[in-house]
Amino acid sequence: MNDQYMMAHQEYAILPGDDNDLFEGSKEEFTHMMMMYNGAIREMKTKLQVLNDELSMTRNRNPIEFIETRIKSPDSIATKLKKKGVALTVDNVKEHLNDVAGVRVICAFLDDIYQVAQMLEEQDDVEIIKTKDYIKKPKKNGYRSLHLIATVPVFFSNGKENVRVEIQIRTIAMDFWASLEHSVKYKRNVRDAEDIVYELRACADVINRTDVHMQSIRDKIEYLE
Ligand code: GTP
Ligand code: MG
Repeated sequence: MNDQYMMAHQEYAILPGDDNDLFEGSKEEFTHMMMMYNGAIREMKTKLQVLNDELSMTRNRNPIEFIETRIKSPDSIATKLKKKGVALTVDNVKEHLNDVAGVRVICAFLDDIYQVAQMLEEQDDVEIIKTKDYIKKPKKNGYRSLHLIATVPVFFSNGKENVRVEIQIRTIAMDFWASLEHSVKYKRNVRDAEDIVYELRACADVINRTDVHMQSIRDKIEYLE
C-alpha cells in the first residue's frame, strides 16, 4: 500500500535501497528510470499549476482544487510486469506500463475536468495517447473519473525523453467516493458484501447528481455576475 497518491510524494532517491534488485540490468539504469518518471511528474504538475494560476488570474477562480502525485513502487512495477508475462527490464517498463508516474487532479466542478484536459491537450509538448472517460461511461461499481495517458518531455544532459504519465481528473465528490471504495478493495469479506457494493453504487449516483446540480448552480451564478 505504499503506492498511494500524496500531496507531495516521496522521490526516487529515497526509495528503499534493495527493491530494485528485482530488475535485470544495473542499479544505475533502474535509478535513472525512476528519476525520469519523477521528472515527468514534476513537469506535469508544474504545467497544471501554471494553468491554474493563469485561470485564477483571468477568471478569478481556480479550476483545480489540489493535485496529488505518486510514483509506482518497484514492487508494484515488478508485479505488474510479471502479470503481463514480460521480463523485468527498464525497456519493458517504458513499453508496457502507463502508470509508473501518476498525477491526480481534483476539481470542484465537472466542467473544470474537461477544461483542464483540453488545456493540457493543447500544449504542443504534451501528447495525449489514451483517454478513458469514466464520467460519460462510469464503471459498473459507480467509479467516475477522466483518465488520460499523456507524454511529457523530460530533459537530461544528453537529450530528452517523452515520458508517460497517468492523469486522473475528478471532482472532490468523486475523489471522496473513490477513496472509500478503494479502501474496501483489499478487504475481501467487505468488498464482496452485496449491500456494500449496492450502497456504494447508489452513493456514486447521488454524488453524480450533486455534481451536475452544483455545476448548474455555478453556471447560473456566473450568468448573473
Ligand atoms: P490498472 O492496471 O489497475 O492501472 O488499470 P487499467 O490499465 O485498467 O486502467 P484504468 O484507467 O481503468 O485504471 C487506472 C487507475 O484508476 C487505477 O489504478 C486506480 O487508481 C483508478 N481506478 C480505476 N478503476 C477504479 C475503481 O473502480 N475504483 C477506484 N477507487 N479507483 C479506480
Ligand atoms: Mg494503475
